[in-house]
Formats: sequence, C-alpha cells, structure tokens
Amino acid sequence: MQLTNLLTLSLAGLAAAGPLAERQTQKLKIMLLGDSITEITCWRAFVWDQLTEAGVASQVQYVGSQNSNPQNCKPTTANWDQHHEGHSGWLAVDIANSYLTGWLQKTPADIVTFMLGTNDVFRGKSTNDIIAAYTKMVNIIRASNPKTKIIVNLVIPLSMSNSGIVALNQRIPAWATGLNSTESPIIVNDCYTGYKTSDLRDGVHPSISGDRFLAAKIGPVLLDLVKQSLGKQ
Ligand SMILES: *[C@@H]1O[C@H](CO)[C@@H](O)[C@H](O)[C@H]1NC(C)=O
Repeated sequence: MQLTNLLTLSLAGLAAAGPLAERQTQKLKIMLLGDSITEITCWRAFVWDQLTEAGVASQVQYVGSQNSNPQNCKPTTANWDQHHEGHSGWLAVDIANSYLTGWLQKTPADIVTFMLGTNDVFRGKSTNDIIAAYTKMVNIIRASNPKTKIIVNLVIPLSMSNSGIVALNQRIPAWATGLNSTESPIIVNDCYTGYKTSDLRDGVHPSISGDRFLAAKIGPVLLDLVKQSLGKQ
C-alpha cells in the first residue's frame, strides 16, 4: 500500500472517531430532570459547588433544554452551569408520553437524575399511573443511551395532602430493583426521609435550607456516579 493511501485511511479513521480536540473536551453530560422542584430551586447550584470542590466541574456539564436561574441562586461557584430539564407544573405522565424522547435527542445524557410525581399527585393521578410513567421514562432514557446511569430521587413531602407522595415513594424501591441493570444502574435516592416540611417555603417548594438538604442528598450520589464514569473510582 502506498503511503498516501495509508495516510488517507488513518485520517478517515480519525474523522470517524471524531475530531481530536472534540474527543479530548467531551464532557460527561448530566441531565437534572423534574418539575418546579428542579426548576425554581437552588439545589442544582449547590450540587455544582460540590462538583467544583471535588475537582470534576471542568469534566462535566449539566444538559437540557432549559438554561435559567429563576431563584437568582448564588452558589460559591460563580460560573455554574445553569442548564436543566426542570419544568414547573409538569406531570411525570406528560413528560414520559410526550417530551422526554425529544429532550434527549437534543441533549443526550450520560447520567439522568430525576424527581417527579408531585404534580401528578396534585392532579389526582394514581400511583400506578405515575409508576407506569417512570417505567416509560427509563425505557426512553435507555433507548437514547443504553449505558445511562439513572438516579431516582424519592419525592420530598408536601405540607398538606401528603398521602399520594408517600404511596409513590413506597413503590419506587421495588420498582427500581425490577428494572435495574449493570449496564444502566438505577440508584434510588431517599430525599424524603428527614425532609422537614418547615423546609418548604410555600408548602411545596424547598426553601434555601430545603435546597441545602436536597444538595446534601443528591450531590454525593451524583458525584459517586460521576467519579465512576470518569474512571476515578
Ligand atoms: C442497582 O444495581 C446497582 C449495582 O449495579 C446497585 O448499586 C443499586 O443499589 C441497584 N439499585 C436498586 C434499586 O436495586
């Protein structure tokens, strides 16, 4: 084979693998998926502080169709990544049926962490309906990327009419175990136990102390998966 052919071949190989610079700067993509408890809260910002303190912030990014800081959160890290997939007022059933496929097409993810179901409970959806939506979401996430690591956060309490939340949270662990896999682990993260309703600013949404509680729950679990994914564990 002539040298020029060899060169062409190896260049073609490089192009197929993606430009060198792009491969080197490819960041781990984290999707924070949820409703207003993800959108109009500050735990996302405080979790970014933890990623920074752990020295991995430059190797990860938050992804999603939203890029906002509605609560004007001021974490320690000034230039925190404000992307997310939190949608105030939205139901898990609607996200599963109509939206998640498109969101993941636009911004694929390596890790998805979600808390959903509060609005479903408000609108009288049954626990079965919500769990069916969870299953659909896991299927959509895995269809998009079969190796996605998934964190399912138990839903924080409401100050009133909390029974629907309790029923949902009780179903999640066994449901998750049933769908678990080595390639795409599902980690159940208990954000319910120990969450005080006095840490709700309006009976539904976390106050800053509630955001600190959620960051302390979600951050370490996420960081663990990030380190695994980056080969640091
Ligand atoms: C899923 O498997 C992983 C190990 O791959 C484990 O850490 C995790 O707790 C399991 N999740 C559930 C819900 O059983």
